[in-house]
Amino acid sequence: MSRLRVAVVGVGHLGQHHARIASSSEATELVAVVDPAAERGNEIAEKFKTRWVPQLADILPGVDAVQIAAPTGLHHVIGLEALKAGKHLLMEKPLAANLAEGEALLAVLAIARMANPKLVACVGHLERFNPAVVALRAANFKPKFIEAIRVSPFPMRSLEVDVVMDVMIHDLDLLMALVQRPVVDVEAVGVPVLTKYPDLVNARLKFEGGAFATVTASRVARKKERTLRAFGNQEYASLDFAAQRLEILRLKMGENGPEVIPETVDIKEGEPLKLEIEAFYQACQGQGQDYVSWAEGLEAMRVADLVQKAVDVSLAMMLEG
Ligand SMILES: NC(=O)c1ccc[n+]([C@@H]2O[C@H](COP(=O)([O-])OP(=O)(O)OC[C@H]3O[C@@H](n4cnc5c(N)ncnc54)[C@H](O)[C@@H]3O)[C@@H](O)[C@H]2O)c1
Repeated sequence: MSRLRVAVVGVGHLGQHHARIASSSEATELVAVVDPAAERGNEIAEKFKTRWVPQLADILPGVDAVQIAAPTGLHHVIGLEALKAGKHLLMEKPLAANLAEGEALLAVLAIARMANPKLVACVGHLERFNPAVVALRAANFKPKFIEAIRVSPFPMRSLEVDVVMDVMIHDLDLLMALVQRPVVDVEAVGVPVLTKYPDLVNARLKFEGGAFATVTASRVARKKERTLRAFGNQEYASLDFAAQRLEILRLKMGENGPEVIPETVDIKEGEPLKLEIEAFYQACQGQGQDYVSWAEGLEAMRVADLVQKAVDVSLAMMLEG
């Protein structure tokens, strides 16, 4: 099978890892890295033995697939450019900076698929590829209540969007995948701390069928924490994303009556980004569909949009009070 010719667009903090993985994969040829910052572009191109170009148009006709890790505010415009050229696309999360831009991308994708129904368009919700998350989903766990926490020190990047679109979006996507029912109600509070957008948000989601979740995202914490706890009927799961650790406890009948028994969960550690990108390459080559689709990325954004609106209401109440 011929190698997939790829370009990585945006080689900053995350894009450098896209370039590393693209350059080391047996499935691909990294044709170029694209970044308007010449020094950074050349540095990464040299490191991964490819060429640097300042804009996507310079290289687009010569590639099959594009990985976009440019700032979120540019996802819409760069995504449209690649789609109109009929290229497979891996868009970093969030799919776009706001719901209107996300919907516009889906509309153009539908048109592009008329010309090529096999066009692959996925979103970089890499936590879905976290081996601990894969194990939780395989455990057939039916959550009734989930608590997700994702906090970190101030990143100095991705500040053109709030903490909901930048950080909480990971957990909103996971909640949708775990509960598999629509969100019917959202309450949220949030505060701008170091930017003009909310930097710390706590949301409470109610799902059709009665499951609930609370989600906290912050970019103004002292330390990183990325955890998820899920509670079902006589079962409890605790997941640490960074450590790729999952513990499941279930109520079972022991020798002396009911006991809460921890289950060992067999987790094969792996780099979520690499697993995600390799799955993208396979899909582009017609081998499998193990990726987070743009439609799913947009669903996560719809929930994020509801959270943002609920935060706006609570902020208005704070100002009145
Ligand atoms: N999946 C994850 O866990 C994860 C983690 C971090 C970042 N991200 C996402 O990746 C994207 C980039 O984030 P980052 O932290 O790497 O940001 P960054 O600021 O470190 O890097 C962005 C890069 O894009 C370049 N750029 C600017 N304009 C461009 C253009 N028109 N064309 C091509 N490149 C351009 C910049 O020069 C810079 O090198 C964001 O959408 C962010 O949400 C995802």
